[in-house]
Amino acid sequence: MYKLIDLPYKSLAPVISDQTLAFHHGKHLQAYVDNLNKLITGTEFESMSLEEIVKKSSGAIFNNAGQILNHEMYFLQFAPQPSLPAPTGNLLARIEKQWGSFDAFKAEFEAKGTTLFGSGWVWLQANETGELSIVQYANADNPVAHGLKPLQTFDVWEHAYYLDYQNRRAAHLSALWQIVNWSVIERRF
Ligand SMILES: [Fe+2]
Repeated sequence: MYKLIDLPYKSLAPVISDQTLAFHHGKHLQAYVDNLNKLITGTEFESMSLEEIVKKSSGAIFNNAGQILNHEMYFLQFAPQPSLPAPTGNLLARIEKQWGSFDAFKAEFEAKGTTLFGSGWVWLQANETGELSIVQYANADNPVAHGLKPLQTFDVWEHAYYLDYQNRRAAHLSALWQIVNWSVIERRF
């Protein structure tokens, strides 16, 4: 049985309002957890880790497991006052090598999030040699399903921002950098 993760903070306001956070975590993510538990009961997936389910399933099981994995990585990368507000060390060196600067990286990340058609996620992912890429994944898809390492993600489903930003997805995405804790992303890298 999967359980809803606890959030390691009380509020991310004003970047994400308390109302959006409560619905996003307590209603949307909770629903994916409840659905997955119902779907996998009595199946081969019951004893697998979330990552294994994402790699091996399809259809409704994949959609719900993928959304749990995506949301856990999304919520756990944030902090109201990030201890590390920008990348450093190896990860910064990689970003500068591939994009020229952290600002250029952020600009491409925001552009890919803004232009993703419909619902999905924009991800920073790494391959086995540490090479980075920014990729749009539709619906519940994610780097794990493609054998890549997930590092950082912005949710561009409307439920992530519509109460606070209405149609202004780009404004929401550019505000999110204020709460990304790069110490979490560096650990994943
Ligand atoms: Fe979401």
